[in-house]
Amino acid sequence: MNEKLKEVFQNMKKNSIFLMALILICNVLGCSGETDSKIPQPTNPAVSEPVTEPTITGADLVEPPSGTDAEDVSDDREPAREVGVFDLEKGTVLLNSGYEMPILGIGCFRLSQEEAENSVYWALRDGYRLIDTARIYGNEPGVGRGIQRAIDEGIVTREEIFVTTKMWTSDYDNGAAAIEASLDRLGLDYIDLMILHHSQPENDVEAYKAMEQAVADGKLKSIGLSNYYEKEDFDRLVNATTIVPALIQNETHPYHQSMEMKEHIAKYGTVMESWFPLGGRGNTQTLFQDETISSIAKAHDKTSAQVILRWHLQAGNIAIPGSSNEAHIKENFEIFDFELSEDEMQRITDIDKDQRFAGY
Ligand SMILES: NC(=O)c1ccc[n+]([C@@H]2O[C@H](COP(=O)([O-])OP(=O)(O)OC[C@H]3O[C@@H](n4cnc5c(N)ncnc54)[C@H](OP(=O)(O)O)[C@@H]3O)[C@@H](O)[C@H]2O)c1
Repeated sequence: MNEKLKEVFQNMKKNSIFLMALILICNVLGCSGETDSKIPQPTNPAVSEPVTEPTITGADLVEPPSGTDAEDVSDDREPAREVGVFDLEKGTVLLNSGYEMPILGIGCFRLSQEEAENSVYWALRDGYRLIDTARIYGNEPGVGRGIQRAIDEGIVTREEIFVTTKMWTSDYDNGAAAIEASLDRLGLDYIDLMILHHSQPENDVEAYKAMEQAVADGKLKSIGLSNYYEKEDFDRLVNATTIVPALIQNETHPYHQSMEMKEHIAKYGTVMESWFPLGGRGNTQTLFQDETISSIAKAHDKTSAQVILRWHLQAGNIAIPGSSNEAHIKENFEIFDFELSEDEMQRITDIDKDQRFAGY
């Protein structure tokens, strides 16, 4: 089993007493479970079966019991990780698929092959472990080369990084072939996360089922969605398929915070990932010069970009800022050495305008 998973579930086992106590209190108080079988109850796979038809089975997840409860009580290791809860020290979140995902990554939209190769390489060198691309960006080979360069130089191993790509809408009728083609272009044996690029009710269920099959075949680890903005649209897909999406990647930033959608998907242990985290090319100055954001940046001696990215992580959004600029890539990763106060978080919450910058 994946070493990181082993660690996560060993920690969960050691904290079983705490979890059992929680369940007991819940029973005593008469808490009722949701009726929707796709909603994980509770979200911690150590005390329940993982979500319906998990990508990793319960047998894989739970270590055989060892030691007594008394030993468990005296154990002072870290508390168990809960699905969807961001660990800002480690910089990761545990997905409902059982995999741990970095919460800050490099985005590759609008990057040429050469730019993508360099950006991915610089990002991995600077500590990033998450990479976001898509077949429609036309730069999967460049991304693959950037990864290979970092691996060849001993900066990372394949297992340490998390690669996301997306299936484009015109491929939905031939999902299996699209997955093979992305693997081939990236030069990888498996993809950590593949997502459907857009909602397309006429055939997105078939495309999603092709991704489910690829999970069973070991070609994809986790699967999810992008550009599903209505709760009903998300539910339509979930109700017609087996594996609950690990995440939704939607346009999300301080002017479009997507709070209702986030609350809805959280019931499924599905997390939000933000595209246009800085507003997108051509729009960044609107957010950077926002009075609230720039004054908070000044108070922390950070840039507006850093404050926005830190806000994303504290708000529970995985962020994948795009850049072809070496200095910006470095700057965007330097957000783990400061924290926004509750008041600052609230002030940014208050500038939400439900305003998208993209027209799709
Ligand atoms: N699922 C979807 O439909 C979808 C749609 C769009 C994007 N995405 C994904 O989301 C990622 C992020 O979106 P995005 O790249 O379009 O927009 P973004 O990350 O919001 O903004 C990118 C812009 O910010 C600039 N920038 C980055 N860091 C900066 C810094 N520290 N200081 C000043 N400027 C900075 C970049 O310029 P420089 O290059 O000069 O740094 C670029 O112009 C994409 O790359 C892609 O992977 C997904």
